[in-house]
Amino acid sequence: SVYDCTIIELDKHHHEKGNITVVENNITIPFGTKRVYYLYDIPGGESRGAHAHKELSQLVIAASGSFDVILDDGKERKIFSLNRSYYGLYVPKGLWRQMENFSTNALALIVASTTYNAEDYIYDYEEFLKHK
Ligand code: TYD
Repeated sequence: SVYDCTIIELDKHHHEKGNITVVENNITIPFGTKRVYYLYDIPGGESRGAHAHKELSQLVIAASGSFDVILDDGKERKIFSLNRSYYGLYVPKGLWRQMENFSTNALALIVASTTYNAEDYIYDYEEFLKHK
């Protein structure tokens, strides 16, 4: 359910010359990483990622800027506002997720548990409800 989604505070190595934040397989996050991708140059007012995944789990990070992640398990909806480079939102498989309210120059970093597989996507909300 949406209550399984949690904000994970990531390791932050503070340094006067800048910071480093680290994500490690099965240590920081409860899954192994197969893929990293990022969304950027997102036009104002755009919304992204309205879909569900059957098997993929992910960690969503506002590496730069801010945006909202809307999660839906078919019964409940929860909105997380991400605006710190050292917070990751853990999203387990089987949830409908959408992203919106991107700030200028937002960088949405997604750490994913599987390689890209078009078959893993559910793009139709009614189909998502049936799949539940
Ligand atoms: P998609 O995940 O549907 O993004 P969004 O829901 O945010 O619009 O991906 C958009 C396009 O990018 C889609 O045509 C497939 C392609 N894509 C890949 O080829 N590999 C990937 O790892 C990802 C995430 C997307």
